[in-house]
Amino acid sequence: MTLSARIVEATGPDLVDINFGCPVKKVVCKGAGAGILKDLPKMVSLTKAVVDSVKIPVTVKTRLGWDHDSKNIVEVAERLQDVGIKALSIHGRTRAQMYKGEADWSLIAQVKNNPRMHIPIFGNGDIDTPQKALEYKNRYEVDGVMIGRAAIGYPWIFDEIKHYVKTGEIRKVPGIEERIIVIRKHLMHSLRWKGPKLGILEMRPHYANYLKGLSHIKEFRMQLVHADSLDQIESIFASMADYYTTLEIN
Ligand SMILES: Cc1cc2nc3c(=O)[nH]c(=O)nc-3n(C[C@H](O)[C@H](O)[C@H](O)COP(=O)(O)O)c2cc1C
Repeated sequence: MTLSARIVEATGPDLVDINFGCPVKKVVCKGAGAGILKDLPKMVSLTKAVVDSVKIPVTVKTRLGWDHDSKNIVEVAERLQDVGIKALSIHGRTRAQMYKGEADWSLIAQVKNNPRMHIPIFGNGDIDTPQKALEYKNRYEVDGVMIGRAAIGYPWIFDEIKHYVKTGEIRKVPGIEERIIVIRKHLMHSLRWKGPKLGILEMRPHYANYLKGLSHIKEFRMQLVHADSLDQIESIFASMADYYTTLEIN
């Protein structure tokens, strides 16, 4: 971990964030990710070693605890703060919950309201609209909210939240041109990394999110998930751009 942190630091990031939240079986069974929540002394000494090995700030992301009977986040937060982390992000579920049920933000608030805590606390779990982001930030008094799944295929969520917090208004959904630019960029990366076949297949689940909120989109979306070449996809993009531009003019 300390060697990795030093390698990462050499590339010039603002901070190193340690992921102590990953619930995936092959990760936790090795004691990594959320698996470390079962061994608090190790979690603390590992974090201290990383903090001591780099000059940039070290932050941590974790969960409420391992399972329902071991929600030890209040103690975890204090001990990680004591070894020098500069911020803590908490996903309001245990490892046992994976992504099931609703995130419990009340324990996140408990960490934030602990008089011993002075580092910023970010809450995470189930935020998927600007209204919910603001409501949760205010209700649980966290320093910020983190977004996971709602950003997959919808990177505009961050601007929408910022706009809502600033003005109290919901920003207009992104237009077709903006969406096509982002989808194309994702598609190009996918093709480069995964090759012409898998690259196109792996894009398919993302179209629905990228095109969310556009009226009459179903037919185009169906065409996109059935297309199997870049040429076909580009021609669907062109028809979409034509269709929505005409719709806007009328
Ligand atoms: C596909 C996927 C990959 C993720 N990878 C990471 C990761 O690398 N590091 C991390 O701290 N959390 C990771 N998470 C967890 C999210 O950051 C977040 O804690 C979780 O999705 C709950 O927040 P949400 O309800 O906003 O999605 C991942 C989640 C998903 C769905």
